[in-house]
Amino acid sequence: MEQYIIKGGNPLVGEVEIGGAKNAALPILAAAVMTDETVIIENMPDVRDTNVLIQAMESIGVIVERVDRHTVKINASQIHTLVIEDDFIKKIRASYYLLGALLGKYKRAEVSLPGGCNIGSRPIDQHIKGFKALGAEVEISHGLIRTEAKKLVANHIYLDVVSVGATINVMMAAVMAEGKTTIENAAKEPHVVDLANFLNSMGANIKGAGTDVIRIKGVEKLHKTEYAIIPDQIEAGTFMFAAAVTKGDVTVKNVIPKHLESISAKLLEIGCEIEESDDAVRVVAAKPLTHTHVKTLPYPGFPTDMQPQIAVALGLSQGTSIVTESIFENRFKYVDELTRMGANIKVEGNTAIIDGVPKYTGASITVPDLRAGAALVMAALAAEGYSTMDDIRYIERGYEDFPQKLQNLGAQIAKVTAEKDIQKFKLKIV
Ligand code: EPZ
Repeated sequence: MEQYIIKGGNPLVGEVEIGGAKNAALPILAAAVMTDETVIIENMPDVRDTNVLIQAMESIGVIVERVDRHTVKINASQIHTLVIEDDFIKKIRASYYLLGALLGKYKRAEVSLPGGCNIGSRPIDQHIKGFKALGAEVEISHGLIRTEAKKLVANHIYLDVVSVGATINVMMAAVMAEGKTTIENAAKEPHVVDLANFLNSMGANIKGAGTDVIRIKGVEKLHKTEYAIIPDQIEAGTFMFAAAVTKGDVTVKNVIPKHLESISAKLLEIGCEIEESDDAVRVVAAKPLTHTHVKTLPYPGFPTDMQPQIAVALGLSQGTSIVTESIFENRFKYVDELTRMGANIKVEGNTAIIDGVPKYTGASITVPDLRAGAALVMAALAAEGYSTMDDIRYIERGYEDFPQKLQNLGAQIAKVTAEKDIQKFKLKIV
């Protein structure tokens, strides 16, 4: 079984290069099937979620060529089925982006319904509402969601909740619909904007992405493009908070500082120094951390995908902090593990009340989900003594070379597969 072994206590110091955004890469990969011409995508993160989506695309006849580790060439002129099989969707929810992309291009798609997820219930009613508004029929049976339209016609669509996934799926379905579609109460996340820019580079006519009203004028077809994915806001934010909890000094490079504003603001509030340049942000944690309150919100609010990371930092901050999770109801599953490392956190409904402690202590930890996993690694890096982390496959869904990047910053972490490797690690460290 693969595990991380970590010895805490070293401040993280140095520079780290941030990769392409996973949550932009997933819809962009799906949207690449919307033309028969060849699309080249650069800055593609090499993480499990994108690789599984690529496999799902290959299973329906899409030809994917890896030019190098972070560049793919995609040609979807030979798709032979519009049915995405069970196995793929179970591994990653984002396979459902192929629903919007295939419906938009072929007016038909069939995808297994995304299964449960361990951060809370994740309905897709707003995706369905959008498809129906464009004239598609949607049917759910035997665990499959089927959608089909004679033709797609533009409409005015109001989303009842701000949803990244629904905004993305409806945008893809509307790109080649007849007329002008408006999506109101749209999500404004950087990855929504990145997808719109990508589609526009293929000949789509999308305006307003990044605001809560997106206007899409249908075009007849899309064409080839060459496009580079934006840097990953959450990977960057994770390293920024890792600097804070380990009392370090880390510069995240290849980022868009504007996308990191809510994260930088909270780091300043808890006592870190922040230096911004055009494409880098430096976080210095020279003083003891102090408490604050935070509520997760859609962009430009504080991201739910950074909630466990800030909680780990607040767990080591002087005073009492309150963290309110307003997006997913079950995103405090890491709290029990953090408590085993010495944190003092009480969860009531969607609120965590955190009384700062002076230190964490190493423990053997089971990773509950992707972002919580990264946050628990951060806690282990700050903790006294050794920690082992199980179920690290969750972390690999969204972080490329996570242990290597941390090692380069001075962390004592290794990925191991056997007990003897753990012993070797301990001998090397002492
Ligand atoms: C995306 O999930 C991200 N995933 C998540 O990142 C992220 O946490 C989330 O957006 C919020 O920012 C990808 O981009 C692949 P939503 P998504 O639709 O699209 C409710 C990570 O760690 N809702 O914006 O599934 C929903 O229940 C992952 O990288 C409906 O009610 O999130 C939630 O409360 C985890 N009906 C809220 O909206 C719908 O039809 C926001 O969900 C759709 C959503």
